[in-house]
Amino acid sequence: MITAEFKDCTTMKGAIAMMLVAMTTVSCKQLSKRATDERKVVIVGAGIAGIAAAKTLHENGVDDFVILEGSDRIGGRMKQVEFGGVKVEVGANWVHGRSNNNPIWELVQKYSISGKESNYDDFVVRNKTGNDVTDQAEAQTERLSTAQDYLENWRGQIRNDTLPDVSLEVALKLGGWKAKTPLERILEYFDYEFEYADPAEVTSLNNTGRVAEDFSDEDYFVTDQRGFGHIVDRLSNEFLSPNDPRLQLNKVVETVNWTDHTEVTFTTTDGSIYRGEYGLMTVSIGVLENEVIDFIPDLPDWKVEEIYQFRMGQHCKIFLKFPHKFWDDSEYIMYAGSFWPQYAIWQNLEAPGFFPTGTNILMVSALANEVQAIELQSDEETKQEVMAVLKNMYGDNIPEPESILVPRWLTDPLFFGAYSNWPVHVNTQDFEKLAAPVGRLYFGGEATHAKYNGYLQGGYLSGIDQANVILNCMQNGICESYKPVVSRGTPGIPAPVFVILVLPLVVAMFLGQSASTMMIY
Ligand SMILES: Cc1cc2nc3c(=O)[nH]c(=O)nc-3n(C[C@H](O)[C@H](O)[C@H](O)COP(=O)(O)OP(=O)(O)OC[C@H]3O[C@@H](n4cnc5c(N)ncnc54)[C@H](O)[C@@H]3O)c2cc1C
Ligand SMILES: *[C@@H]1O[C@H](CO)[C@@H](O)[C@H](O)[C@H]1NC(C)=O
Ligand SMILES: *[C@@H]1O[C@H](CO)[C@@H](O)[C@H](O)[C@H]1NC(C)=O
Ligand SMILES: *[C@@H]1O[C@H](CO)[C@@H](O)[C@H](O)[C@H]1NC(C)=O
Repeated sequence: MITAEFKDCTTMKGAIAMMLVAMTTVSCKQLSKRATDERKVVIVGAGIAGIAAAKTLHENGVDDFVILEGSDRIGGRMKQVEFGGVKVEVGANWVHGRSNNNPIWELVQKYSISGKESNYDDFVVRNKTGNDVTDQAEAQTERLSTAQDYLENWRGQIRNDTLPDVSLEVALKLGGWKAKTPLERILEYFDYEFEYADPAEVTSLNNTGRVAEDFSDEDYFVTDQRGFGHIVDRLSNEFLSPNDPRLQLNKVVETVNWTDHTEVTFTTTDGSIYRGEYGLMTVSIGVLENEVIDFIPDLPDWKVEEIYQFRMGQHCKIFLKFPHKFWDDSEYIMYAGSFWPQYAIWQNLEAPGFFPTGTNILMVSALANEVQAIELQSDEETKQEVMAVLKNMYGDNIPEPESILVPRWLTDPLFFGAYSNWPVHVNTQDFEKLAAPVGRLYFGGEATHAKYNGYLQGGYLSGIDQANVILNCMQNGICESYKPVVSRGTPGIPAPVFVILVLPLVVAMFLGQSASTMMIY
């Protein structure tokens, strides 16, 4: 009843709405507090993808949208925390691919975000007894890079479909590299787990290296005290005013009803209801996999299949503040203490160009399978474990840390992990399915970007792409839709067909020829 009345109010737009008497306007407003909020587009998530999507809608004349964000801030996986006298990035930290065609680098330059070029060659490796074994590492690095040349050649053939996809581990092995010692293992870990947040044996060779190829292999580590997320603040300032009602914080979406193929209804845990002619999800693949959002009806099998095929990588950046510096001067310090790396990649944020001298902060990255135990135990237990490693490297006389920061992305129900990883045997068409809409519900976010999934570029570009897909449907009647060609359980599933529905007239023209692959909702 209330919903219906409110619907009447919102349809009285423009000139008619202006003619309404004050009394009516007030009652509409009062109703809107309790009733369904109706919009042209409802976006879930105010990370870089959701903000880029809303900005794209705005730039194309669509301002009737609302962004529902579960936390009390925008930025999502770009997040700064005060620690040890400075602000540190607990999520995204690097611009991967410092080059002018990288949209993230463009934004970083536009807003003068300060940082430091990463020098991955500036490292020291220490073994379990604290000896500097960097010389030995250099010989192994050469061997690894020979295998990597082989790997790149193979990757080129997978890219043009001459060979099927394999895992990174397989390609390295056949290229002559198999890690057998803790030293060899840490070098491999530095190049792969540290980048993809997932073990080399599950990572698709085809998906690796795209960012370095398309942009550059130079990376930039942000230290700006306004935060890396300042770029998202600035993007949002271009279309949102302070306290703009189109940004709704602390709204955790719990159900998404896409039954009717002309609208999508979202409910949040506080009982609010939002209805859009179009809906856009930008939550992580981890959130979708953990079933914290109830879809009505259930998502189709072809969509569920893709959601579960993709992986959420784990990356935990632990920060330690010390009373003084006792570690090496190089940018990176690697600990080759065990074949199964733990607390193995350290960053000296006291090195020139990072934090002011005397900040005395060390950062250690835990990755992939290492992360779960760390997130589940207390910070005190983690502190003891990292101190044991530091004592192996620098002796028992090192000082205790003044404080420790252990971010938790995996156990946070708004994220369930760090970033997506493309596993072996998943192809480009799988990406199209992951990003394809169901009814009027669209899917964006980092994981849905077929080239730069896992990176900020992926999040940002997926937001723009999905907004354009929605605009094309809304403004030109050209609406994407996906219909699986083969049903579940059919052996030897052929390549599914991605269908674009053009104006009904055009569809009708083609119906006779390819009716089997077309579907009209
Ligand atoms: C530790 C770590 C290190 C990283 N390092 C880098 C790096 O150096 N360089 C790089 O390029 N990338 C890095 N990334 C990846 C990068 O941060 C992401 O790819 C990008 O920020 C994803 O943006 P997004 O908008 O797709 O998703 P998100 O930022 O996750 O945005 C989605 C939003 O949806 C909200 N949400 C979730 N569930 C709900 C719900 N039920 N209801 C309402 N709202 C909800 C979330 O709160 C979030 O704000 C890193 C990520 C992590 C975690
Ligand atoms: C560490 O390296 C030194 C020097 O090469 C060597 O003597 C020592 O045995 C190594 N320690 C371990 C645990 O391998
Ligand atoms: C590898 O990726 C390219 C896109 O860069 C794609 O065209 C190709 O089909 C993929 N190969 C395999 C075997 O998945
Ligand atoms: C979902 O929406 C449809 C109309 O779009 C409605 O008929 C149905 O009752 C809704 N289901 C639930 C569980 O809210």
